[in-house]
Amino acid sequence: MSAYPTIQAPPDPGRLPMTLPLLREKKRLGEPIVMVTAYDYPSARAAESAGVDLVLVGDSAATTVLGFNATTPVELDDMLVLARAVRRGLRTPLLIGDLPFGSYEVSDEQAITTAMRMVKEAGCEVVKLEGGGEASVRRARAIVGAGIPVMGHVGLTPQTSTALGGWKAQGRTALAGARIGAEALALEDAGCFALVFEAIPAAVTEELMPNVEVPVIGIGAGPATDGQVLVFHDLLGIRDGLGPRFVKRYANLQQEMNDGVAAFAEDVRTRRYPAAEHTYSIDPAELEELRALLR
Ligand code: KIV
Repeated sequence: MSAYPTIQAPPDPGRLPMTLPLLREKKRLGEPIVMVTAYDYPSARAAESAGVDLVLVGDSAATTVLGFNATTPVELDDMLVLARAVRRGLRTPLLIGDLPFGSYEVSDEQAITTAMRMVKEAGCEVVKLEGGGEASVRRARAIVGAGIPVMGHVGLTPQTSTALGGWKAQGRTALAGARIGAEALALEDAGCFALVFEAIPAAVTEELMPNVEVPVIGIGAGPATDGQVLVFHDLLGIRDGLGPRFVKRYANLQQEMNDGVAAFAEDVRTRRYPAAEHTYSIDPAELEELRALLR
């Protein structure tokens, strides 16, 4: 059953919704494209209020909100729940649903079915998949052929980080850099409307960018890309530790949450909470009657 009937649109922010032609126009004009991940209603509201262009329900949800230490365990059904919540909080950014590991690699049919579920059941407008090898390019072409726009993702692709030798920068030799360039062009040729470049030396990105026609969003790929994306929990410090080198932290919300919950616990233990202003009143006559009833 579709989740649409239960969606309550947030207030109109007075901006046009992001579309694929508008995205291409931003690239043409050289206007930086802003993308952020979101996994629930509050993170979606933050993205909407900041007026970002693209919101990704990333499979990074596995690590940011589900407590795994890799992205591979997250299930399609988990992603659908999260994406529906994000959908309810968004009005203008383009909503991208990340296809989780194991949900698109087996066959074109599997990839199309998964992408369609992201669109029909969660209200995603487009999907993203990882990898620029032959199989990923074939899946991207199949999904685009079924009418769903696809964002590609090259460089560090966390779903296959074991095969890549770990969670580390990619393209640090001439051959590896050229391979990433070839993968980007193959995904573009398959019809991808945009690409993510992740964890690639800035100088390599700079060499590759002139060859790519579609918008490229970077994460740890330097300043030459058409836009930047960061993981919501990384940029707001909702995590233990600093995270990857490329993260710039704009808040320390994990510490604020810890402090807030600790203050509440202390208030309860010392009976400072609840105070009179946190309680409901009753008419004194009603209270008297209640006492009589209870006697
Ligand atoms: O899942 C994710 O958060 C991503 C971004 C890092 C682009 O794929």
